Amino acid sequence: MEKLLVGLKRLEYRGYDSAGFAMDDNEKCEDDDDDDEEEEGGDKKRHDAKKVIVCREVGKIANLEALARKELFGEDDDDENEVKASKSKSSNGRKKSSSSIKPLDFCASIAHTRWATHGPPNKINTHPHTSDSRENEFVVVHNGIITNHAPLRAMLERRGMKFETDTDTEVIPKLCKFLSDKFEESGEKDVTFRQLAMEVTRQLQGAYALVFKSTKYPGELVAAKRGSPLLMGISDDSGEVSCVIDGNLSDGAEEDVLLKKASGNKKRKSMTGGAAAAPAADADTTTTTRITTTTTTTTNNPKVEFYFASDASAMVEHTKRVLVLEDDDVCHCHDGTYKIYKVEKQKHPHPGYTSGHDSPEYGLYKPVVLSKEVERTIETLEMEVESIMKGEFDHFMQKEIFEQPEAISSTMRGRLVLDVLGAAERVMLGGMSQFAATIRRSRRIILCGCGTSYNSAIAIRQLFEELTELPVTLELASDVLDRRCPFFRDDTCIFISQSGETADTLKALEYAKAKGALCVGIVNTVGSAISRATDCGVHINAGAEIGVASTKAYTCQIVAMVLVALSLSEDSRSKHTRRDDIMQGLLKLPGCVKECLKMDAILLELAQELKEEHSLLIFGRGFNYATALEGALKVKEVALVHSEGILAGEMKHGPLALVDKHMPIIVVCTNDGSYEKQQSVVQQLKARDGRLILIVSDDDTEMEKTAPDAVILRVPKVEDCLQAVVNIVPLQLLSYHLTVLRGHNCDQPRNLAKSVTVE
Ligand code: AGP
Repeated sequence: MEKLLVGLKRLEYRGYDSAGFAMDDNEKCEDDDDDDEEEEGGDKKRHDAKKVIVCREVGKIANLEALARKELFGEDDDDENEVKASKSKSSNGRKKSSSSIKPLDFCASIAHTRWATHGPPNKINTHPHTSDSRENEFVVVHNGIITNHAPLRAMLERRGMKFETDTDTEVIPKLCKFLSDKFEESGEKDVTFRQLAMEVTRQLQGAYALVFKSTKYPGELVAAKRGSPLLMGISDDSGEVSCVIDGNLSDGAEEDVLLKKASGNKKRKSMTGGAAAAPAADADTTTTTRITTTTTTTTNNPKVEFYFASDASAMVEHTKRVLVLEDDDVCHCHDGTYKIYKVEKQKHPHPGYTSGHDSPEYGLYKPVVLSKEVERTIETLEMEVESIMKGEFDHFMQKEIFEQPEAISSTMRGRLVLDVLGAAERVMLGGMSQFAATIRRSRRIILCGCGTSYNSAIAIRQLFEELTELPVTLELASDVLDRRCPFFRDDTCIFISQSGETADTLKALEYAKAKGALCVGIVNTVGSAISRATDCGVHINAGAEIGVASTKAYTCQIVAMVLVALSLSEDSRSKHTRRDDIMQGLLKLPGCVKECLKMDAILLELAQELKEEHSLLIFGRGFNYATALEGALKVKEVALVHSEGILAGEMKHGPLALVDKHMPIIVVCTNDGSYEKQQSVVQQLKARDGRLILIVSDDDTEMEKTAPDAVILRVPKVEDCLQAVVNIVPLQLLSYHLTVLRGHNCDQPRNLAKSVTVE
C-alpha cells in the first residue's frame, strides 16, 4: 500500500479529484478455503486466491491514505504514520488477530487518480472499478475514455449485469466477468488472463491504458494500451507487483519520461522508430546505456517487481529500467515473468457484442483474438528522484521557474557547438539533420500546438520566417481537425508539446501525417506519443516539469526552436552575421535569465499590490506578442485572475475601451524593432490614466520619462529574437506570487490537468 500511495502522490501534479487502490487481502476467497489440498498449476493458484480489498476516497491522496489506515488497519488519525500489521482488520471491518497477518508471497496491486469526466467526483465513481463490489473478482484501473461505453453497458444490462457507477470504465470489469463466465460455460476453462483481457479490449473503442487484476488469476496483472501512455518498470528488489495509473481529464483517464537511448547508436537520426529515441545530437553526447532485451525474460527471481504507470515519476524511486508499451500491446505479468503481445489486426473485424451477437464467428464463446509475442527495448531512465521533488522550494512551479537557467543550458548542450575560444560556432541537431534539406524545400512551415506550447510557436514565428524565408503559419492543434486544414505533402508541420501526449496535438499530427506532410516534433517527454509519431525532431531536455503551469518548458521550447531555425539557415551567407549574433546571444541567455530571477522580491511586492484585482491586461507586439499571451495565460491559469494578452497593435481596435485608472496594465516594451511603437502605446495608455507596469530593457532611460508613475521592471537586454525568453520570467514570478497570496494551488490549479490526454 505504501508503494501505491507514494506512486499516486508522485502523479498528483497531473491533476485529479479522487483516488483509489485495490490490493490483495490476507484472507482467502470464501470458496477457496481448503488450502491444504495440494494441486498443481492454475488450480493450486485458484485455491491461493486472496480477497481483494478496494479502497477509494474523494479529494487528496492524503484522504485516501487516512481512510485506508483507519478502515484496513484500524489506525486512528493520531496513530503513528506507519502501517502496523498487528492492528489490522479485514476488508469487511472485522478486527484481525495479529497472528493472522502473514506476509504475502506475491502481491499484485493497482491504484489510480481520477479526473471526473463521466459522472461526478464521488467515491462510487472512483477507480478501481470492479465486476461487482462485493466480490471484486475483476478490478480495473483505466486512463482514457471508452467512447462506446453506452452500447456496451446496454448490452451487459440486457444480460442482467448491474452497474454501480456513472463511469465509462465500469463496462471493462463487467465485460471481464461476463466473458469469463461465458467462456467457462462454453467449456473454455483454460482461458488465460491475457486472453481474457484481449477479448475485452477488442470490444473497446476510444483510448485506454488499462491494468487488470482478478481473484481468478491471483498474483497476475495484465496491462493493455491504446492511445493513452503506459510505461512498464522492472526492478529486482522485492516481491511485489504494482501499478499506478492516473486519470487526467478522463473518467478513467498521463508525464515525464526522460529516457535516453542508444549511446552506441550514433547513426540514429530520428525521434521515431524506437521505444524512446532521443535526438541524435543527444545520442552523440549522452553517456547513458542502452539495454536491449527480449521481453520474454523469464526470471525465477522471487524479488522481481513490475511497475506499470502512465508516467515514470510514479516508479523512478524503485527502478530506472523501463520500457514503453505501444498501442495494442498487452503485457502479462505472472510468476515473476512478463511477456508482451501485440494484438493482430483482424481480417474480418468482429462486429462486437453490442451488435446483438454474442459470438458471431462461432455461436459459442471462445477466445478469438490473435496476437504475437513482441520485444520491446528496456531503456534506462535519466530521471532522478530529485527532479520530481520540490527540494528547497515551496512549490514545483517556483522550482521550475528557478530551474530555467540550467534547463536552457540543457536544451543547448551538445547542440550549440563552441570553438576553441568558447564562442558559439554552429548548431548541430542530429535528430533533424537528415531532414533539413527536405524542410528547406517545403512549401511552408506550420507550427502547431496548444496553450503554452502554441505561445512558444508565436514567439518563434518571426525568426523562422526571417531565417528560412519560407511562409510560416500557426495552427492551434484543436482547430486543425475542426477546420480540416488544407495540409499538403510539401508542408513541414512542427508539433510542439511539453508532454508529448496532448490529445489535440496528437490528433493534428495524425491528420498531418495522413496528408503526407513531414512531421517534426519539439517535445520534452522522450518516449511520448508525439515524440514517437513524428518523423524527426528535437527533445527540449528541460527536465521533468511537474507544475501544471508550464514555465521552463516554454522558455526551452523557444530555445530549441531557435536552434532549429539556425540549423535550417546554416547555408545562407547573407544571414551569417545575424546567425552569429543569435548564437552568441544564446550563450549568454542562461545568465540573463538568472539575472531576471533576482527580481523575485520586486515581483512579490507587485503581487501584493495586485492581489485583489479582478483583471489584468498585458500588451506586447513583435517577438513579445507571445510574452503577453503567455503571461496572461499564467495569470489566469494559476492565480485565477482574468487576464488578457493583447497584441499592442490591436489596442485601438477595442481593448482601449477597458482602460481607466483602476485597470492594471502590463506593457512589454523592451528595446527592439517595436520599441518606438510601444512607446506610443504607453503614451496612449497613460493619457487614459491606465495603471502602468512596464517591462523595459535594463539600459532604458526613455520609458520612465514617458510614464513617470509607472512601475518599471528592468530586464537584461538580449538579441531581439531571444528577448521573449527573458521577458516572460517576471510574468511567471508575478503569477506565482499572485497565486500564493490569493491562497490558490499553483501546482494543481482547479479544473486543469498537466497532460490533456483527451480531446
Ligand atoms: C500551460 O501552462 C498549460 N498547462 C497548457 O496550456 C499546456 O501548455 C497545453 O495543454 C499543451 O500541453 P503540452 O505542451 O503538453 O502539449
